[in-house]
Amino acid sequence: MTFGRLALVTAAPLGLALAASAAVRADEAAIPGVRDAYQARTDYQLKCQGCHRPDGSGDDRSNPPMKGTVARFLTVLGGREFIGRVPGVATVDLPDDRLANLVNWTLFRFDPAHVPQDFQPYTAEEIGRLRQNPLRLERAATRARLVAGFAKTHGRQ
Ligand code: HEC
Repeated sequence: MTFGRLALVTAAPLGLALAASAAVRADEAAIPGVRDAYQARTDYQLKCQGCHRPDGSGDDRSNPPMKGTVARFLTVLGGREFIGRVPGVATVDLPDDRLANLVNWTLFRFDPAHVPQDFQPYTAEEIGRLRQNPLRLERAATRARLVAGFAKTHGRQ
């Protein structure tokens, strides 16, 4: 009996905590191309934030910030393909549909202002095709060329 009461007392706060962490935030509820924001956020925490940081701020040494800038790749020719081919995306151990869900979430979560108005979300098929061809050593030069093109684009277009 005593044990039963104790179990109840400890289980209640745990249940509340789980319910709170499972809830999808209002601003993530209807992101284009994201069928499961909770899954995306969890996948980001497990597979991406070690390098890109929880808030997408990256660092100023080796991992680029995504916050306020990542969707700018969508505004330059070749940038859409680049996103599907960077090693952190292409080689992650997630199936194509979960990766498309995650990439679309990443773009809107960290840089909604630069997502072009006519953006077509990544599909599992497109991600599956792009990731078959991961960028290797050429990625630094490719990235630099794309980033140089950012200067010519201004936010939503
Ligand atoms: C081991 C560290 C690491 C991990 C883990 C990682 N990335 Fe990256 N990411 C990078 C680096 C470094 C770049 C810059 C391009 C390059 O050199 O690969 C990059 C580039 C990117 C880009 C292109 C934007 C840019 O500024 O170059 C996107 C989008 C991206 N990562 C998303 C993700 C997602 C989503 C995940 C999780 C599935 C992830 N990354 C996991 C290190 C990482």
